[in-house]
Amino acid sequence: MCGKRDLDTQLSGVLVDEDRIRERIAELGQRITEDYRGRDLVLVTVLKGGFVFMADLTRAIDLPLRMDFMSVSSYGPSPAHGQVRITKDLDESIVGAAVLVVEDIIDTGLTLHFLLKVLRQREPESLEVCVLLDKDVRRIVELPIAYKGFSIPDRFVVGYGLDQAGAFRQLPFVATLADEVMG
Ligand code: PRP
Repeated sequence: MCGKRDLDTQLSGVLVDEDRIRERIAELGQRITEDYRGRDLVLVTVLKGGFVFMADLTRAIDLPLRMDFMSVSSYGPSPAHGQVRITKDLDESIVGAAVLVVEDIIDTGLTLHFLLKVLRQREPESLEVCVLLDKDVRRIVELPIAYKGFSIPDRFVVGYGLDQAGAFRQLPFVATLADEVMG
């Protein structure tokens, strides 16, 4: 079995450490609190990667809010084809709600592009995006991002919800993998 200490040995470096994540989330939470006062705030995240950021971000927002979760999967010849389908939908209606989509990372933007199109059809009062990590050099479709944690370079990153073959999600920081793990 592989413990946290074993995971650390497979990393090449820490890209965003725990303190920076904590500070940035506190700032984002404060801004969201100011912007959404008096509104029917619903935070929607995309499983699995978004669950860690969602958990910390919601606790930095000093407002009543609801949380909901979706799962999507890409199909077609390559992810860049942008064919996405919903494998788990929201549990509740978002009609008239102030919806904030919470993502751990935006890469090509195709997942979120699809998701925003689907959610917009459900007539929320507003629809905005909050992302922790923006790999903007990889973007294929432009997206409006209201709240952003960090811009990151085009490196494969793990931790804080992000995985490689299902592992590393529980790391409390964002890290790069050692070359031998990348294969
Ligand atoms: C990640 C992330 C986004 C998507 C972004 O999910 O959580 O949903 O990729 O990539 P894109 O901008 O190129 O569409 P992933 O497919 O790794 O699934 P997971 O959340 O279950 O790890």
